[in-house]
Amino acid sequence: MTTLEKVPRGREPYGTATTGTFTRIIAVANQKGGVGKTDLTVNLSCQLAAAGKRVLLVDMDPQANATSYLVGPETQIDKTTADLLLDDEVSLADVLIKGCRENLDVAPASGDLSACQIRLANDINMQFKLKKKLKELKEGLEYDYVVIDTPPSLGLLTVNTLTAANQVLIPVQTQYFAMEGVVQLLDTIRKVKEDINPGLEILGAVLTLYDRRTLLAREVEAKVRNGFTDGPVFSTVIPVNIRLAEAPSYHKSIFEYDADCNGAKAYEKLTEEILGCLEA
Ligand SMILES: Nc1ncnc2c1ncn2[C@@H]1O[C@H](COP(=O)(O)OP(=O)(O)OP(=O)(O)O)[C@@H](O)[C@H]1O
Ligand SMILES: [Mg+2]
Repeated sequence: MTTLEKVPRGREPYGTATTGTFTRIIAVANQKGGVGKTDLTVNLSCQLAAAGKRVLLVDMDPQANATSYLVGPETQIDKTTADLLLDDEVSLADVLIKGCRENLDVAPASGDLSACQIRLANDINMQFKLKKKLKELKEGLEYDYVVIDTPPSLGLLTVNTLTAANQVLIPVQTQYFAMEGVVQLLDTIRKVKEDINPGLEILGAVLTLYDRRTLLAREVEAKVRNGFTDGPVFSTVIPVNIRLAEAPSYHKSIFEYDADCNGAKAYEKLTEEILGCLEA
């Protein structure tokens, strides 16, 4: 059997063929703001790491919310994903905060990322900047999963992420108009797949900020479960949970902040469900 035949469905052969390590790159995307992308990126990454997977979280949002979620002000950040995209001399290894948690490294973001759209406007390889730098994963940096947080737009930073990714995970806030934004995102995914990254797959949709007490949440859930046909809608939903809203200001994952709360339990179940899909 060749090495490529051993790669499970949806996996690109990033990584070292000699050790049999292959990295799956997951983009967390939805151009609608405040739907729980960062919350999902951070807590999924932490739970994958807790499950013994080697994880790299890449922050591609100029707001740098995932970075400040996990990295306190005491940590000096020298280089960020903005340097990674803008400077050919900067490698992935140069930007990493290694051992941010056990099994978890972070490639931090900064506000400088917002200049990328303009600074890269005349660069013919502008969509491929992140993909090119993640290729260094072949050369000694070994992860099971790379999870990438994206900004609330379908601009160059999200396109760079979709170009580099194997799969997209879509958080959908259980609110009216939830599906309208998703339609636009699916259209962008389709275009990236057709033009740039044919291997891109939809890992699934996750219902977020779910308030079980409201009729609206149940109605939107039914609408998304019926209307989203491009991949699975995970059966675990992420509830509205005050502990999830509090955790980022302490720079703690939900498992470090309050492992017994409903939010933590939901992320545990969701990670199991997602791992079931990824490693099927
Ligand atoms: N399940 C939840 N329960 C309560 N609060 C939550 C939950 N998920 C996220 N939040 C809070 O809601 C806000 C928006 O969440 P988050 O930052 O994850 O969304 P986002 O999609 O990444 O936003 P943006 O588009 O601005 O990047 C944050 O203050 C976050 O702490
Ligand atoms: Mg965010």
